[in-house]
Amino acid sequence: MCGIIGATGETDVLPLLLDGLGRLEYRGYDSAGVALQANGSIWRVRAAAGTHSLADLQRFVESAPTGSAAGIGHTRWATHGRPSEVNAHPHTDCSGQVAVVHNGIVENWRELAALLVERGHVFTSDTDTEVIAHLVEEGIADGASLADALRSTLKKVRGTYAIVAVSSAEPGTLVAARRVSPLVVGLARPAAVGTTCGGPGPIGSGCGLVMVASDIPALLGVADRFLLLGDDEVVELRAGSLQATNLDGESAVMAEMSVAWDLAAAEKGGYDDFMSKEIHEQPQALTDTLLGRLREDATFELDALKIGPSEAAAIDKILVVACGSSYHAGLVARFALEKWARIPTEVDIASELRYRGPILDDRTLVVGVSQSGETIDTLEALAEARRAGARVVAVSNVVDSSMARSADGVLYTRAGPEVGVAATKTHLTQITALELLALHLARVREQLGAGEIRELYGALCATPDRVEETLARSEEVAGVATRFASSRDFFFLGRHVSYPVALEGALKLKEISYVRAEAYPAGELKHGPIALIEPGSVVVAIATRTALWEKMMSNVAEVRSRGAAVILVVNDGDEESAAAADAVLWVPGTHELLSPLVDVLPLQLFAYHLARHHGLDVDRPRNLAKTVTVE
Ligand code: M6R
Repeated sequence: MCGIIGATGETDVLPLLLDGLGRLEYRGYDSAGVALQANGSIWRVRAAAGTHSLADLQRFVESAPTGSAAGIGHTRWATHGRPSEVNAHPHTDCSGQVAVVHNGIVENWRELAALLVERGHVFTSDTDTEVIAHLVEEGIADGASLADALRSTLKKVRGTYAIVAVSSAEPGTLVAARRVSPLVVGLARPAAVGTTCGGPGPIGSGCGLVMVASDIPALLGVADRFLLLGDDEVVELRAGSLQATNLDGESAVMAEMSVAWDLAAAEKGGYDDFMSKEIHEQPQALTDTLLGRLREDATFELDALKIGPSEAAAIDKILVVACGSSYHAGLVARFALEKWARIPTEVDIASELRYRGPILDDRTLVVGVSQSGETIDTLEALAEARRAGARVVAVSNVVDSSMARSADGVLYTRAGPEVGVAATKTHLTQITALELLALHLARVREQLGAGEIRELYGALCATPDRVEETLARSEEVAGVATRFASSRDFFFLGRHVSYPVALEGALKLKEISYVRAEAYPAGELKHGPIALIEPGSVVVAIATRTALWEKMMSNVAEVRSRGAAVILVVNDGDEESAAAADAVLWVPGTHELLSPLVDVLPLQLFAYHLARHHGLDVDRPRNLAKTVTVE
């Protein structure tokens, strides 16, 4: 996790660093810090105050030297060392003349730190990162440049990293490197009148400002061109020049990224927080994800999926691999993949899959689902699948993310940037993209005819209106959330395609409202969990008219008779279901396999309003980060 940023070339880079850190805070907010090159030395400031670390940092930088042309910044999600100022990045060497920011984990840091201490280095933090600063210090003391010192340091480091380093001895130079953790270079601003940043000539020439960051939103509104650094590569960044190499110092070529997002999309646009903005962007996100996918002949246009009739014919099993809300999207899609494409489908939690020796071969299609495309558990599970010879495709929201680049094929969701830690619009667009995949496989394997494909695609295209209609009832959901705001234990029940909806509703409530919420397939209650139900328990059940509605209503009766208060998600006009509820969350009806796209909405809103009722920060829930780039 953690967000890192660096900038060089502007007359005063501090505002750019702070602005970028604000847009990287979703990656972690246990502490924040910046280091600037100024007057031949390094000036550093750090703040650790939990959810207000960046606000504190904004105050502390009032004493910063003005006119610094190069600097680095960091917003932290703690792994090694508790959240505190001493553990906040940037970390420096013994002399304070080298500063580094790091996202990732140095696995052999204890071993390296012990050797460095033996050689006289003094450590001031409990972090794994600090060893990097001291190893670079040793390289520079031996006469190496910052880039050479970082290259030789990284040869000693095991683990994952995105790093930016700065030294007082090389004004205007930043050196960045990555392995697994994401890092994007942004080029901006013509260096002089008559030059073009991003025009012909060596890469970076003509650009007056060069930036580097963990993620694209930090560079939006500033950078005109975006470049990717490869694994185990190091880049020297200066205004007007970029030089990328591998760890042996041999030249490397950075790939250009296509970025269609704009700054407005990454900002709040009038909403109180990113989560409500993103919830209300769902109709548009779905429309965009569906746009232009179906051709006249009822075949599909699916980015670079690269699964034509012969590849599809060779598939005898699908394995969807993901984490969190992306995993829930996979569970929803399993119904469509099995029913429409008639392919046996398993859905696995990425962090479990890789350690259980899964049985995969070249007839298995492995689908990695990840909004960020950078979740390490999913990346590693896909790497395991590739080693086993499986065909791997990625469903990602970030163009050219690590997952997209390493997969054999890719299908993009088009949700735009999602900043709130709780996944909302990306979850819905993942379900949509996976259902498009199911339709495509059904078509090329001749399981569904053109007419059926058109009908189902038409039902998908009608969903954004249903979503819009449901979101317009946000205030009604707020009323229900207020009524149940003092409850601390929630049970979410679903059956069939609604079970993943229950899982997602419970996850949303846990992560932003901090109340206990467990989800069960309702038929499983009688095998144990029903013992927990007592007067005062709150049960949220999805009771829309899907396949097992009658059985669901029997399960609802079982918990009511044991004293639970029941909140039901019910289809418009279904008074029979509503009569069994203490509170109703109304939703329009839709095609059964598409119903999770609508039924999950009141649960997102319920968690949102409950959290707001308790005055919690919905965008930055405690202990969490948006993108989980550590195991
Ligand atoms: O970027 P990814 O889709 O791979 O992220 C997976 C999970 O970390 C993510 O869905 C997480 O569970 C969300 N915070 C849930 O709201």
